[in-house]
Amino acid sequence: MSRIVYVNGEYLPEEQATVSIFDRGFLFADAVYEVTSVLGGKLLDFDGHARRLARSLSELGMTPPPEMEDLLTIHRELVARNDIVDGLIYLQVSRGSAGDRDFHFPPADTRPTVVLFTQSKPGLADSPTAKVGISVISVEDIRWGRRDIKTVQLLYPSMAKMMAEKAGADDAWLVEDGKVTEGSSNNTYIVKDGKIITRELSKDILHGITRAAVLRFAEEAQMVVEERAFTIDEAKAADEAFFTSASAFVMPVVKVDGETVGTGKPGPVAVRLREIYLEESRKTAI
Ligand code: PDD
Repeated sequence: MSRIVYVNGEYLPEEQATVSIFDRGFLFADAVYEVTSVLGGKLLDFDGHARRLARSLSELGMTPPPEMEDLLTIHRELVARNDIVDGLIYLQVSRGSAGDRDFHFPPADTRPTVVLFTQSKPGLADSPTAKVGISVISVEDIRWGRRDIKTVQLLYPSMAKMMAEKAGADDAWLVEDGKVTEGSSNNTYIVKDGKIITRELSKDILHGITRAAVLRFAEEAQMVVEERAFTIDEAKAADEAFFTSASAFVMPVVKVDGETVGTGKPGPVAVRLREIYLEESRKTAI
């Protein structure tokens, strides 16, 4: 069955939804995005995603689209029209189209292109993978220097995932100057001697919405959190490792570059944080 998607003010069947070939998202990756999860028909961390979208637009000097006021309504409408119980909503805003290819930004009154679509994922929170954990390889982080802005420049993360697949692993952790920055599409953590260690916020990583919530819940549960960069060797020698993202919540990592982390099974901290995150986020979902 065809999805109903949203493009620039209209809800349309996906086959009828179009954007210009001159769109700057298409030609220059001049676009930002958000992925919000849906559990039980409700949106998780919606306000956090809406705030980060506004920040991404502002950091790139993009004109906010008229939809900014109606984002919640549009998200909810898509959930309803597509009967989404569990799944994801993808939102993308580009700087629009100037009707030609030109490196210079189009006039500020150019309408940004706004696209949203749903991905149905029944049982998203009951992922069998979370029960066994995943394996990662490390690859060099060669992305640009503003990873705090959620742009659609995802070629290198895609390549990193393909490198992982080729190596028989599930995902890649990116390393710069000997330290892990983040995962190809998630924030990364290790646990050592009861302490949760995760890289501090800066322009080097995306300021994950799930990360913010998980660290808040960890502190509320009296867990010790240290925000600092760590190495791949520390990850291999850690008691536990895990990552967070809106689409995978808290995901245990049990192998790094072929070496078993801890017992090789999801560790108690990751398992507990996953439970708390899902429980608390469901309570505040809208
Ligand atoms: N990715 N770091 C990177 C590079 C990411 O792409 C993501 C999210 C995160 C986690 O952020 P959040 O907790 O706000 O989802 C960290 C999304 C899910 C994606 O690209 O599909």
